[in-house]
Amino acid sequence: MSFITVPLDSAHKKENFNCGKGLLDAYLHKQAKQDVKRRLSACFILPDENEIKGYYTLSTAAVDRRLLPQEIIKKLPPSYSDLPAILLGRLAVSKNYQGRGLGEFMLMDALKRSYFISMQVGSMAVIVDPLDEEAVKFYEKYDFISLPDSGKMFLPMATIATLFPEN
Ligand SMILES: CC(C)(COP(=O)(O)OP(=O)(O)OC[C@H]1O[C@@H](n2cnc3c(N)ncnc32)[C@H](O)[C@@H]1OP(=O)(O)O)[C@@H](O)C(=O)NCCC(=O)NCCS
Repeated sequence: MSFITVPLDSAHKKENFNCGKGLLDAYLHKQAKQDVKRRLSACFILPDENEIKGYYTLSTAAVDRRLLPQEIIKKLPPSYSDLPAILLGRLAVSKNYQGRGLGEFMLMDALKRSYFISMQVGSMAVIVDPLDEEAVKFYEKYDFISLPDSGKMFLPMATIATLFPEN
């Protein structure tokens, strides 16, 4: 499987990254490298010669089965109270490149990577944690479903698998 992103490393110039959301900018500037070092999350970036066009992070996650819709729960063995998933914790595109399709490209890259991971480590969905209502709308466009009372949204891995039939 090929990906358009690469793991963040020290050579990447992250200081000037600006997606318009301070929290996501500060995370890349100050915390991402530390989190990677501590294995709290993996960070993938879309590099250009002198800048970062976008980034996203992935971590493992557990979802309380009671948050999932009935039609999904009824197909799952009752012994799993928490279900394994992958958290797409952050996704951001530099302001200089927004509105040109890169957000969609990066989301597809993150879903493909998650699908690939799910073949090695069981994960039945990708979870996102949208920062605000705008981000919710972005993820709704790609059929993410809200998880009640958590602010999070999810897309079943079975749905993601249909996006990458050749793999
Ligand atoms: C959200 C974000 C990643 C989208 O990236 P982008 O490169 O501008 O998006 P794209 O050009 O790939 O657009 C893909 C589609 O999503 C839509 N879209 C983009 N931003 C959107 C938003 N904030 N709300 C709703 N829809 C949005 C676009 O209209 C487009 O749909 P279309 O093809 O039907 O026109 C980017 O705006 C960003 O980094 N925002 C700040 C950080 C953020 O909010 N991240 C969200 C996760 S926490």
